Amino acid sequence: MIRKLTATVLTTLALSTGSVFAAGAGGHTEDVAFPFEGPFGTYDKLQLQRGLKVYTEVCAACHGLKYVPFRTLSDPGGPELPEDWVRAYAAQFEVPDDGEDAEPGDTRPAKLTDHFPESADPNAPDLSLMAKARAGFHGPEGTGINQLIKGIGGPEHIYSILTGYTGEEKEEAGTTFYENTAFPSGWISMPPPLFGEDVEFDDGAPNDLHSEARDLAAFLMWAAEPKMMARKKAGFVAVIMLVILSSLLYLTNKTLWMPVKKQAKEAAKKA
Ligand code: HEC
Repeated sequence: MIRKLTATVLTTLALSTGSVFAAGAGGHTEDVAFPFEGPFGTYDKLQLQRGLKVYTEVCAACHGLKYVPFRTLSDPGGPELPEDWVRAYAAQFEVPDDGEDAEPGDTRPAKLTDHFPESADPNAPDLSLMAKARAGFHGPEGTGINQLIKGIGGPEHIYSILTGYTGEEKEEAGTTFYENTAFPSGWISMPPPLFGEDVEFDDGAPNDLHSEARDLAAFLMWAAEPKMMARKKAGFVAVIMLVILSSLLYLTNKTLWMPVKKQAKEAAKKA
C-alpha cells in the first residue's frame, strides 16, 4: 500500500514538472535565479530598492502602478524604506485632487496613503500585477513543483522583454515596432527602455543592462505579491500538518482493524 502511494505521489510530481506553454506564445524567456525563489526564498530589500529606482527614473514615464499604495514601500519584507523617505518620495507624484473645492482635473502631490498613479501612456499597461499576469505563460518554469523551486516565470518574462531587443525596428500603420525575442509576436511597440547605466545605484551595485532588468523584475514581483513569504510559510505549515495528520490516520486505521485481521487469520488457519 505504501509502495503504491509513493508511486502515485512520484508520478504526480513528475507530471507537474513539465513546462506548460500558452498557445501561440512564441516568446523566448531566460531563466533568472531570484532570491525570492524556492520554498525558503525571501525578497532582498536592497534589490527591491534598486528596482524601485529603475521604475521611478525610467518606467514611470509611461507605466503606472495603480494597485500599489506608497505606504507599502516601508512594510517589513518589502523594500523597507523609512516612512519619512516614502512620504517625500510620494510627494513627487501628482494624483487627482479629491479635496472639497477641487475642480475636475485638479491634481495634488500624493500622500503616503495614496496609490501610485495610473499609466501616463494609455498604450502602456499598468505594471502592478504584470509579474503575476505573465506567470507560467512563457517561462521555462511552467507550473507545479517547478513554480515552487524556480519561481512562477513572470519576473523572468519581464527581464527577458527588457533584455530581448535585437536592435531591429519597422514601421507599420504609423507605429514603430521593435524586434524583441521575448515578446510573443516578436515585435513590441515599446521602445527599448533600458540600455545599461541608466541609473546610478546608491549601494554601488552594478548597473549594466542585465542587473538593472533583474532588479526591476524583482521589484515588480514584490509589487504583484508583497506577501509571498507569508504565503510560503503558511503553505509549509499546512504541509507539515497534513503529513502529521496523515500518519495519525494511517496508524489509527491499522490499530482499529488489527483485531479483525487477527480473527480472520485465525479463522483461515482453522479452516
Ligand atoms: C515610452 C514609454 C515606455 C517606457 C519608458 C517604458 N514602457 Fe513598457 N511599454 C510601453 C508600451 C507602449 C507597451 C505596450 C507594448 C505592446 O503591447 O506592443 C509596453 C509594454 C510593456 C510590458 C508588457 C510586455 C507584455 O508581455 O505584454 C512590460 C513588462 C513593460 N512594458 C515593462 C517596462 C519596464 C520595466 C520599463 C522601464 C524599465 C518600461 N516598460 C518602460 C511603453 C513604455
